[in-house]
Amino acid sequence: FGLPPAVNEPMRNYEVKSADRAGLQAAVEAMRAAGPFDVPCIVDGAEVRTGRTQQQRNPGNHEHVLCTYHEADAALTEKAIAGALKAKAQWEAMPWNDRAAIFLKAADLIAGKWRFPLMAATMLGQGKNAWQAEIDAAAESCDFLRFGVKFVDEMYSIQPAEHSKTVYNRSEYRALEGFVFAISPFNFTAIAANLVGAPALVGNTVVWKPSPMAIYSNYLVYKIFEEAGMPAGVVQFVPGPAEEIASTAIAHRAFAALHFTGSTHVFRSLWKQIAGCMDNYVGYPRIVGETGGKNFHLVHKSADVDAAVHQAIRGAFEYQGQKCSALSRLYVPQSMWAGGFKEKLLREIASISQGPVEQFEHFMGPVIARHSYDKILGLIDAAKKEGGEVLCGGRGNDATGFFVEPTVIETREPRSVTMVNEIFGPVITVYAYPDEQFEETCRIIDTTTEYALTGSVFARDRYAVITASNLLRNSSGMFYINDKCTGAVVGQQPFGGGRASGTNDKAGSMAIFLRFVQQRTIKETM
Ligand code: SER
Repeated sequence: FGLPPAVNEPMRNYEVKSADRAGLQAAVEAMRAAGPFDVPCIVDGAEVRTGRTQQQRNPGNHEHVLCTYHEADAALTEKAIAGALKAKAQWEAMPWNDRAAIFLKAADLIAGKWRFPLMAATMLGQGKNAWQAEIDAAAESCDFLRFGVKFVDEMYSIQPAEHSKTVYNRSEYRALEGFVFAISPFNFTAIAANLVGAPALVGNTVVWKPSPMAIYSNYLVYKIFEEAGMPAGVVQFVPGPAEEIASTAIAHRAFAALHFTGSTHVFRSLWKQIAGCMDNYVGYPRIVGETGGKNFHLVHKSADVDAAVHQAIRGAFEYQGQKCSALSRLYVPQSMWAGGFKEKLLREIASISQGPVEQFEHFMGPVIARHSYDKILGLIDAAKKEGGEVLCGGRGNDATGFFVEPTVIETREPRSVTMVNEIFGPVITVYAYPDEQFEETCRIIDTTTEYALTGSVFARDRYAVITASNLLRNSSGMFYINDKCTGAVVGQQPFGGGRASGTNDKAGSMAIFLRFVQQRTIKETM
């Protein structure tokens, strides 16, 4: 049908004294003043206050409770599942253009009147600064919804090539039989919107367990979908203890799919639970997961040093290294490292400002919670014990919020503890490799970790680019040439890793929608 062309939402820059900065600042202050909010579960479109409550706190300010939320239990999850199954027939039967219109409207609401509140919730609840919140909550959320409509429209139009005078062939793309269970992470409001939005767009109904560390922004996403016209019951919002909710959803006979972003460990344990219930299901559940990463930049001796330094800093420290795509392992030729790279890197890092994101001027904010603060500092300690040299940072300050300094560790052992383990914090480990061992270093990169999410090569020499691209072909799902390994844009760089980083179903492309439909081929003989 007559879709508007999908274009990426233009990014705003929140310059000092701009109207956008003033507007966003006012939204942040208003949200602080109006909270703490009381966030219910939403089952069949009705708010449910279970009385079993938890708080979502501002990770950069221990005093600030952003919201109190009500947790679902197994019984409420059962109700949510029943509601999702009840809502399904009507939702699936809704004409495609009507369903699409709801998502396009939701995108317009996010781009317009909800932009600043959704960003403010992402800033205050998830510790993103204004620019990171713009990339995520504003731009990427809109992009997932708008491009999603485009991709689904194109998918529906993929039809058998051959017919004859007496035979007409066609393909139908139906929603899955049952309900989709979505578990979303704290680090991207847009990912949460897409984990729920993508299956719903093709006619599924979704039981959604949001991250306890992103409740308020995710609740606003629900409210935006509702305001855009999503019928009651299509999305069931059930925050609460992961194990209780997940085991209830997975044990259900109508469990049709898991749409997950989170840790490798949790994903594996859910997959095993699903396997254990296999005999009980109507079909084979679709399992779509985006999990951990241990992402690399490989710098070749022909690289532009300024660009490689700058992109390393952005890749590793934007959002405090809490993007699943964040740079964590940096490989630099020894002569380049000693010949100015190291000095430049440390000098630029020394100018990074860090503090509460409400103050707007900081490049870095807090990490998400106590458990990640402790884990990051613990891994830095372990690296030191192993002989790693902390070149800068390495300390935390949890007096007012969970702040961890931007940290660089130099190691002489390419399989040291912080080269292998996912940290999910602002830590780069550097291995300066012998200049002539570029290929050998590719092999080391490829075999050091179990992950394969993102990676970059920096080189002017085309032969080096091709060599790295070949030797690292299975080491990442997104491979960047002369750019940082973060910041995939919907519709431009489809996102999804391999190996222990996920099922490689690319978000931000048509591929993801194919996982949430059942195709039926119809041959009609005339
Ligand atoms: N899409 C984000 C990035 O590429 C991560 O999820 O950084």
